[in-house]
Order: sequence, then structure tokens, then C-alpha cells
Amino acid sequence: KLRSVVRGCGSYLPPKMVPNADLEGIVETSDEWIVQRTGIRARHIAAEGETTSTLGLAAAKAALADAGMSADDIDLIVCATSTPDHTFPSTATMIQAGLGMHHGAAFDVQAVCTGFVYAVAVADKFLATGSARRALVIGAETFSRILDWTDRTTCVLFGDGAGAIVLEAQEGQGTSADRGVLTTQLRSDGRYRDKLYVDGGPGSTGTTGHLRMEGRDVFRFAVGMVTDVVEAAFEATGTSAQELSWFVPHQANKRIIDASADKLGIAREKVVVTVDRHGNTSAASIPLALDVARKDGRIMDGDLVMLEAIGGGFTWGSALIRW
Ligand code: ACO
Repeated sequence: KLRSVVRGCGSYLPPKMVPNADLEGIVETSDEWIVQRTGIRARHIAAEGETTSTLGLAAAKAALADAGMSADDIDLIVCATSTPDHTFPSTATMIQAGLGMHHGAAFDVQAVCTGFVYAVAVADKFLATGSARRALVIGAETFSRILDWTDRTTCVLFGDGAGAIVLEAQEGQGTSADRGVLTTQLRSDGRYRDKLYVDGGPGSTGTTGHLRMEGRDVFRFAVGMVTDVVEAAFEATGTSAQELSWFVPHQANKRIIDASADKLGIAREKVVVTVDRHGNTSAASIPLALDVARKDGRIMDGDLVMLEAIGGGFTWGSALIRW
């Protein structure tokens, strides 16, 4: 059985770091409120000239370097984003051009904060069927560009950044001892579109629009959705929370992360948390967190790593990977 094995990872954060205190001058809020309700202390914000494709390109280059590969070795690029530079061309083809790569296929996947999990699932299908050999899977976002900076209920929550992994097809035994993506579990339910959406676009206002969210309702659904897809991943692979090495959730809110881990019986010390430093970077949050935990020595070869996310749509999903 062909498995999609992680060969490298990388990330990029715009240099400008904005602590909560700096937001106190923009909307009526406080560091204390933001930390208590979300666990967020700071986020990075893209400067003029930095876009989703430039952040994504930097993360892609870092991941290739980590894998000891060049763009020549890659034949598929899947980029998860909801904040593309343009409606089209895709961010993935812009990154492809930035890498000087003129072969293979590149396209975007849009599942908001679940985007990276969806992108891993899509790339894994290509590799597992032999349609591609090595894939760059990227999550890149500039949510600062779609925030209403007069709305304190949303603007304090998000940040910008990008992360990427390189996946390579390799023969496995078909058991959970194999290295690589062991399973992906994807879900969506479009009935909830009004809970979290952008109020613009070519088919509505003709402008980019701003993010709108019923935060309390999202919170109410979140833990149940996370538990659903994580338990489905354990069931599909015959593994359990006890066997897990690392839990790398989408980084939206520390309270959702803690409540999900507790409900799933995952020990707090196995949970990778970066929301305090990055805020919610949507599709970029998981690969950013993976890169932090890989580079600081937590994630080791052979470790069992659970990714999960929920996002606008609603969309939700998990990916269980043996690193
Ligand atoms: N600073 C100070 N006060 C604030 C702020 C702020 N930034 N924002 C809201 N408040 C006020 C509200 O106005 C409200 O005041 P009121 O009681 O006078 O009306 C009070 O704080 C409480 O507001 P709630 O919305 O009830 O606060 P809650 O505890 O639910 O926390 C939060 C809000 C942090 C948004 C929470 O609901 C949450 O995290 N929800 C999930 C959101 C999320 O994770 N979204 C990402 C999903 S992934 C994706 O696809 C983007």
C-alpha cells in the first residue's frame, strides 16, 4: 500500500508581531479579556507587500530545504487558503511560479480553517493512487486583510502566517505501524454558513468583504465536531488516544483545544499549542504548529500525530499521521 510519508516541514511568519496591548488602541478591548477568553497573547500581521502567496512561498521553500529537496522533486502543490491574493489565478500556481517550477499540477483547496486537513487528504489521495510522487501541501493565510478592524468580537482573534509539509509516496504494509498518512476524515454541513462567513465576494457585494462570526455558536458546535472526526480516525486505524504521541489541533481558541483534549482523553502534555503566539491563522495554523513542535524536538520520526480542525461552512476533519 502506498503511504504519504512526511519528508519535511517549514513555516513563515511575517516579522511584525502585534501583542494584545496594541489592539487596546484600535478597539475597546483588553489584554486580560483576550487572554482569558481565547489564550491569545500576540499574533503576526502581514506588512504592505506581503501577501498569502509570498508567505506561502517562504513556507514552501523552508519545507523543501528541510526535506533536502528542490522544486524539481515535486510534482503536486496543494495550497489551502481562504485569503488568496486574487480570485484567480490560484495561490498554488503563484507559489509554483515563485519556486521556478513549470511542471506538475498546482491548485488551491478552500475549506477555511479546515483547509490544511482537506489539503492533506487531497494530496494523500494523489500519492496513494500513484497519480503523483511528491507533494507540497501548504496552508497560507492573511486573515488580517478580511477582518473588520472596528469589530472587537472578531479582529482580536486572527493572525497571518503560512506552513507547509512535503509528502512522498512510499510503500507500506497497510498497518498503523506504517509511516505516513494513516487516515483522513472529512466532514462538512453547509446549513451553518451564517455562523462563520465573509460578507463579500464576486457574487455578492463585489468587494472582498469582512469576516463575520457568531462566536458563541461556533464554540457550542466545536467540541462535538472535533470529537466526531478524531474518534473516527482512531476507529479507522485501530488506534487510541493512549497511543497518540502528539495532538496538533487547529489553533482557534485555547478553551476549545483544552475541552476537546479532555473529552477525547488526550493528556494535556501531548497537546501542541501555538495560539498564544500566532492567534488563529486559519488554514496555516496546523502546519505552523507542526513546524514549531518538529523543530523544538517534540515530534520525532515514528511519532503518531493527530491533526484536527473545524472551520467555516461548517467544515471539519482530522488526519492521523505516523511521522
Ligand atoms: N474585548 C472585550 N470584550 C469583548 C470582546 C473583546 N475583544 N469581544 C467581545 N466582547 C464582549 C462581548 O461584547 C460581550 O459583552 P456583553 O456581555 O456586554 O454582550 C462579552 O464580551 C462576552 O461575549 P461572548 O461572545 O459571550 O464571549 P465568549 O466567552 O463566547 O468568547 C469568543 C467569545 C472568544 C469569540 C468565543 O465565543 C470563541 O472563541 N468562539 C469560537 C470562535 C472560533 O473559534 N472561531 C474560529 C473557528 S475556525 C474558523 O473557521 C475561522
